[in-house]
Amino acid sequence: MQLSLLENRNDHAVAEKRVKELTELLNHHNRLYYQHEAPEISDAEYDELFRELIRLEELHPSLFNAASPTQRVGSAPDGRFSGVTRQIPMLSLDNATSGEEIRAKLDNRIKRELGLAENEQVAYMCEPKMDGLAVELTYENGILRVASTRGDGITGEDVTKNIRTIRNLPLRLNGENHPLLLDVRGEVYLSISSFQKINAEKEENGETPFANPRNAAAGSLRQLDSRITARRPLSFYCYAPGRIEGADFPSQEDFLKKAGEWGIPVNPLRRRVDSIDGAVDYYYEMQQQRESLPYEIDGTVVKVDSFQLQRELGEKSRSPLWAVACKFPPRQAETRLENILLSVGRTGVITPVAVLKPVDISGVTVSKATLHNWDEVISKDIRVGDTVVIERAGDVIPAVVRVLTEHRDGSEMIVPVPKICPECGSAVVQIADEVAYRCIGISCPSQILESVKHFASRGAMDIEGLGERVVEQLLNLSLIHTVADLYSLTKEDFMRFERMGDKLASNLLAALERSKRCTLDRFIFALGIRHVGERTAKSLAQAFGSIDNLERATIEEFASIRDIGSTVATSIFTFFHNPVNLAVISRLLQLGVKPSVVAKTVGGRLSGKNFVFTGTLMHFGRDAARKMVEDKGGNVVSSISRKTDYLVAGEESGSKLDKARDLGITVLGEEEFLSLLEETH
Ligand code: IVH
Repeated sequence: MQLSLLENRNDHAVAEKRVKELTELLNHHNRLYYQHEAPEISDAEYDELFRELIRLEELHPSLFNAASPTQRVGSAPDGRFSGVTRQIPMLSLDNATSGEEIRAKLDNRIKRELGLAENEQVAYMCEPKMDGLAVELTYENGILRVASTRGDGITGEDVTKNIRTIRNLPLRLNGENHPLLLDVRGEVYLSISSFQKINAEKEENGETPFANPRNAAAGSLRQLDSRITARRPLSFYCYAPGRIEGADFPSQEDFLKKAGEWGIPVNPLRRRVDSIDGAVDYYYEMQQQRESLPYEIDGTVVKVDSFQLQRELGEKSRSPLWAVACKFPPRQAETRLENILLSVGRTGVITPVAVLKPVDISGVTVSKATLHNWDEVISKDIRVGDTVVIERAGDVIPAVVRVLTEHRDGSEMIVPVPKICPECGSAVVQIADEVAYRCIGISCPSQILESVKHFASRGAMDIEGLGERVVEQLLNLSLIHTVADLYSLTKEDFMRFERMGDKLASNLLAALERSKRCTLDRFIFALGIRHVGERTAKSLAQAFGSIDNLERATIEEFASIRDIGSTVATSIFTFFHNPVNLAVISRLLQLGVKPSVVAKTVGGRLSGKNFVFTGTLMHFGRDAARKMVEDKGGNVVSSISRKTDYLVAGEESGSKLDKARDLGITVLGEEEFLSLLEETH
């Protein structure tokens, strides 16, 4: 016992030292990454250190410190960025929505203001109105120093770190002789394809997708962790100067040209026109072009080209007199929602899709719209038969904006949340904190390509040669329907492939044969259970020792394993209670797959034994006790059941002690527990 006490104290001291080390290391790498842009380690290595620190802080709450690098991530409230106050406010623009209005609100007004005759012409710069968010970048002697959001126009948020991640923005301007000070204003935006990619990922992760590219750009830029921003391919187009010291530009055209030469992105679709007629033509032209652009625009902006004239005209009630935003009509329409279909994604997410009475929205016939997820269907109370407003954004699938409930006649039908996968009949579950519903069938046709690829991958069953192309052919020829079918394939089956030789077929069969002797953790990982990565698979293999035990375990038993929270525990439990999955597993075993238990715990005397702790332990902490048990192959679970082997009872043990006695479970005092551990060397 003396020894254990010492070990325990020692544990803490070791952890304390490591927490300090990790904090210093992470701060060092953060500095290199953010300030010097010269990272020395990969993101994956950084993440590993970061996770280790999180784990230690969880295990030893007393070592937690508010200034820890782990506190930089998470959902901090607004106001978390520091403020940047500017001398020249960022204004907004007056809107026009037709050619008529462009003339009235800009040209006529300007001519009146400047006392010009009707036939005298003003030159304008026309630009696409990017649908993103406005930022200001400050370059000092050509070096990017500060970047801020528009905020209320005067005070914005300091997003310098995040802006630095935008790949098409120069951190140092090209060429020589840069102005002492140059504020560059422009729009941060996200291309439609990047927006779709981010949303697809979000849907697969069970998160609510962004409503449009603008929200996605804003959400990405306002991330506290700029590593997340870095993974979102934001872009920037400059559209105006702010403060300029040490340079002078006569016009918007000259300014944008020079900015472009310095390497600052400027929109190539801009056009200088000699009169308002050109600006009106540009507006209608861009409205046509809008659909084929790789990013979203919501109109054009027309500005007086001469900076001298701009200054003369000045501003009124927070918008300049020398410019106008020419907005395009919204791409919305009303139609009837005729049905709600279920679409099953690659990784099992079930997305409701609205089937619409076909309707034209600015030249495109729309007959389907995404409803994203069931939370959305429920919160918007969308029913079959409803009249709905739908909106199209670029080539993004249209979305249902809202229901026009005033058109209801009582015949509308509520569609219930799915219980069964429409593709394979497996159970559909909503895992803890996800909005998505998922099919958890291992052989669901919609997911089979991904699940077979994963099953064969290197960290899983490691079946050499069984890559995407081979899997696709197996599926196309209907040679496999589940991962188990892989093990009944014959050489003749493979020979049916295009470009398949005798040697290649033999190699594939040999690789399949080899993979049968896998370790249990790889086998568990290969099953593709949601939230079970390689590490969790290892913990599961060590704690349960066999597939049989996993099939019998309770959610609590899963949750009692280190690193497994209730979400993951539920996911594992549900997986092992799906009859379709159990059938596939049993067929795999029948066909000769023989997962072996990880060597370390084989034969450990506590292997497979379940411990429960109760009461106040006087000599060691719960974490230390858990570690002692797990090191010898045992499991620690939180509640007593018939499967419990030992209850270790400290001071003031309550109902658990009674229950253990009722069930005839061996009850150990702390000393007895320690002796048991000693015996099991
Ligand atoms: S000029 C005072 N040009 O539209 C002039 N704005 O209300 C400032 N926008 O929030 C704006 N593309 O973020 C200008 N080519 C463009 C633009 C543009 C998008 C945004 C801008 C502002 C809003 C205008």
